[in-house]
Amino acid sequence: MADIMKDGPVHPVKIQDNTLRDGHQSIYATRMRTEDMLPIAEQMDEMGFWAMEVWGGATFDTMHRFLGEDPWERPKTLKKYIKKTPFTMLLRGQNLVGYRNYADDVVRAFVDKSCEVGIDIFRVFDALNDLRNFQTCVERIKANGKHFQGAICYSLTQPRLGGDVFNLAYFVKKCKAIEAMGADSICIKDMAGIVSPYDIYDLVTELKKVTKLPIHLHTHYTSGMASMSYLKAIEAGIDIVDTCLAPYALRSSMPAIEPLVVTLQGTKRDTGMDVRKLIGMGEHLERIAPKYQKNLMTNKLSLIDAGVLAHQIPGGMISNLVSQLKEMNALDRLDEVYAEIPRTRKEAGTPPLVTPTSQIVGVQSVMNVVQGRYKMVTNQFKDLMYGLYGETPAPVDPEVQKMVLKHNKRGQTPITGRPADYLEPELADDKKKIGDLAKTEEDLLTYALYPSTGEQFLKWKYGVEPMPESVKPPKAPEEVKGKEG
Ligand code: CO
Repeated sequence: MADIMKDGPVHPVKIQDNTLRDGHQSIYATRMRTEDMLPIAEQMDEMGFWAMEVWGGATFDTMHRFLGEDPWERPKTLKKYIKKTPFTMLLRGQNLVGYRNYADDVVRAFVDKSCEVGIDIFRVFDALNDLRNFQTCVERIKANGKHFQGAICYSLTQPRLGGDVFNLAYFVKKCKAIEAMGADSICIKDMAGIVSPYDIYDLVTELKKVTKLPIHLHTHYTSGMASMSYLKAIEAGIDIVDTCLAPYALRSSMPAIEPLVVTLQGTKRDTGMDVRKLIGMGEHLERIAPKYQKNLMTNKLSLIDAGVLAHQIPGGMISNLVSQLKEMNALDRLDEVYAEIPRTRKEAGTPPLVTPTSQIVGVQSVMNVVQGRYKMVTNQFKDLMYGLYGETPAPVDPEVQKMVLKHNKRGQTPITGRPADYLEPELADDKKKIGDLAKTEEDLLTYALYPSTGEQFLKWKYGVEPMPESVKPPKAPEEVKGKEG
């Protein structure tokens, strides 16, 4: 068999750098400030990354809520330093950068404005992989002449690829459907870090047979498999992978770029990057680290979460289950909850476990164990069974659905259309409510996405209320000491 690493055509692996978004989101709860990005911005621009992920995901939420920074300003500021490398953002489909489905008018205005502030590539995903939740975003991305990257949430119901739902055929079918929507590239988005090396080899090999589009892999180091999975994906011909500079890599973040660059040297897939330059930029991240130390998870000896290999439950979901059980004084029932999750998940149509479905399934599973199965049902779980998030990967259990929707305020008969078709336009109403406090269209969108914290932020921004010390930039420990002594 021909070895594409030695005998194939020259096909450098392209790198998307995620340091400035998913990197600090995974390591520091998304708390990195724009001012700390600027010292290495120009150097990063020189590296020849395929793209830099700088926005989206949780950045919008944390910036206005915890950092007192206007989220819209970050891409504009970075663009002054990073002139060559395209910017990419993670967009949660109809949920944008929030946690619910917004009406189409909000989605249109948000995507248009994102293009205007400097986003070039949009990685769009939906928690249920229901592509109808892509539609409105995609219309505007294409209308603005930007790059639409369609992402498929990678999910499993067993340790390895296969089973009734998330098998090879499922991902191939989604890939073809995304291509048919006009995608410029396809992303396998493995948010829980559960894709394993030989499975991704098979998956990339299959996808390469059905599409000419560039294929991009996003994975997290969480289970410890990610670097191995990248190597096998590269051997199977993957086009682009996501990495971070070493200080913001590993743990629940991405694989580090530096070892990958050296691994590929001298092969047909050599990135051509200079590892010494990468190490130099990493040193800056080490220097600013003391400012962010309090956001680093240090409660476990292990840097990986080996448990996810056994039960596929993402780490963030487990910490929420534990705190919910503690509140109910039922922490001793954690093992029962682990057993309940696959059952509740199956009855709910086997959604991928990603925000917000991971929470919806997690919370309901705890209630099923502690209070009895479906004795109490959360509104969000009802909405999921009602079809308000979209179509689930597998059919929901009809008995459970009937039981859960019996006293549902929205109705007993589930909806089957595109979820946003059931939503009234929102922006005119938002404009009326926020009034003069929103001085720009960006302000209005901040409020539309986050009514309460958005309004609070606008009060800080325009000096209606003083910005509390807690949201101002923290001082590094040595700076503080210097002042005192
Ligand atoms: Co991620």
